[in-house]
Amino acid sequence: MDPSTSSAITLNINGEKHTLSVDHRTTLLDALRERLEMTGTKKGCDQGQCGACTVLVDGRRAVSCLQFAVAAEDRQITTIEGMAEGDELHPVQQAFLDLDGYQCGYCTPGQICSAVAVIEEHAAGWPSAVTDDVRPEAGPPPLTPEEIRERMSGNLCRCGAYTSIVQAVARAARSGRAAGPPATASAAGDTQEEKDKEAAA
Ligand code: FES
Ligand code: FES
Repeated sequence: MDPSTSSAITLNINGEKHTLSVDHRTTLLDALRERLEMTGTKKGCDQGQCGACTVLVDGRRAVSCLQFAVAAEDRQITTIEGMAEGDELHPVQQAFLDLDGYQCGYCTPGQICSAVAVIEEHAAGWPSAVTDDVRPEAGPPPLTPEEIRERMSGNLCRCGAYTSIVQAVARAARSGRAAGPPATASAAGDTQEEKDKEAAA
C-alpha cells in the first residue's frame, strides 16, 4: 500500500466497524459496493444527480457517490441494510412495501434512506423550498404531498413510481416513527387507504 495514494480506514456502517485499505479516490459508494459487498446501495448516475446511492451519514442524507470513503471515517453510516431491526422492517420500508412504492426497485434503497431523513428533518421543523411560513415559531409545516415531493426531489425514479412513493412517505410519517403533524387532513372516519389517496392527490 502506497501511503501517498492509499490508506487503511475504519468505517462504522450500521453499527459495525469495517477496516479496509482504500485508494484515496475511492468513493463511499464504491467502498460499500465493491469492497464490502454491501450492494443494497445503488449506483445510478455516479455524479450526484439521481439519489440512488443515498445513505445516511451521521443521520443526514448523503449521496455516497460524491463522498470519499476516507472522509467517512469516524462517521456513523447507515445504509439500507441497516434499516430493519431483525425481521422487523423500518416503518418506511413497510410503507413502501404495503403501498407499492416501487416498480423495478432500483431507486428504492435511496428513496427509503432519503424518506427516513425527510421525516426526521420535517419533525425537527426544518422548512423546505415550498414551506410558506419559515419562522421557527411556526413549527413544522403540514407534511403535504407538495412538501414530500419537494423534500424527496433529489431522488429520481425512472419507473415513475412517484405517486406511490409520496403515499408511502406520508403513511410512514403518520406512523409515529417521527414526531410531526399528520401528513394529510384527517377527517374523522377517513380510512387509511383514503388518507393515502389524499396524500397522493
Ligand atoms: S449514483 Fe449517486 S447520485 Fe446518482
Ligand atoms: S422503482 Fe424503478 S427506478 Fe424507481
